[in-house]
Amino acid sequence: MKRVLLALILVNSALGIPHKCEVVDFLSLHCEGLNITSFPQTAYSRFVTAFYLQNNLIQVINEFPSMASLQHLNLSRNAISNVSWKSLVNIPNILELDLSFNRITYVDVSVNRGSLIYFSVSHNKLETFSEENLGIVSGDPEFYRTCVEGNPLHCDCRMAWLQTLILVREKCISGYDSMSCKLYREHPLHLSLRYQNGAGFVCNSPENVQGWPISKVASLAAACEQHVYTTTTLVPT
Ligand SMILES: *[C@@H]1O[C@H](CO)[C@@H](O)[C@H](O)[C@H]1NC(C)=O
Ligand SMILES: *[C@@H]1O[C@H](CO)[C@@H](O)[C@H](O)[C@H]1NC(C)=O
Ligand SMILES: *[C@@H]1O[C@H](CO)[C@@H](O)[C@H](O)[C@H]1NC(C)=O
Repeated sequence: MKRVLLALILVNSALGIPHKCEVVDFLSLHCEGLNITSFPQTAYSRFVTAFYLQNNLIQVINEFPSMASLQHLNLSRNAISNVSWKSLVNIPNILELDLSFNRITYVDVSVNRGSLIYFSVSHNKLETFSEENLGIVSGDPEFYRTCVEGNPLHCDCRMAWLQTLILVREKCISGYDSMSCKLYREHPLHLSLRYQNGAGFVCNSPENVQGWPISKVASLAAACEQHVYTTTTLVPT
């Protein structure tokens, strides 16, 4: 047993793998819960297909290292505030990316969603985001899933799309059935919308709606129209 461990440590240091990480089946790198503070890079990186980095202390991802084989990356429960979304190109074959329970304030995977089929930024510090930011494009293949519940939403016109989706869900689960129910059930966010029976989307600002579920505040879509109306009427003639 000791000899195996020693061999493991020697191999690991030759490849530049952080000492306490474990390689399983040659292709999975397990580094969870090791107080790691920056994304580890190793000579072995390009062969790794699954990288488990959850429960560490990483704060920033300035750049995803080049990992051509990587399919599963778990960075849940770190302290990540900034991610270079552009550098997703460095992990072109990623299927699952879990960034839940971090401190991310800005998300945009629209440019490089690539091969992603599961993407989570739930329980972060996101105040506003569009469907496009989450990698949701119209005519999406049915199998893309994304999770964004548990963020401190800024409930203004920009989040009207999410409010609409949640209201459609509420109607559909109370028995109403129409084409829009089918669209909601196939929506990439449908798992996220079900979280705690739809209680995962709460406004944190503006102050007058702080703590309110987004489905309970006045129509944000109407606020958009109002906004358009006001700006047009303000245009000097
Ligand atoms: C991580 O840091 C905490 C707090 O300093 C410590 O209690 C824990 O043992 C450390 N874990 C490892 C794997 O080093
Ligand atoms: C990532 O790790 C967390 C914490 O261990 C776990 O709850 C979560 O299910 C994992 N994510 C995926 C996509 O497997
Ligand atoms: C994170 O991003 C914000 C906004 O882009 C920037 O102001 C801040 O300095 C960045 N923080 C780090 C640690 O890179």
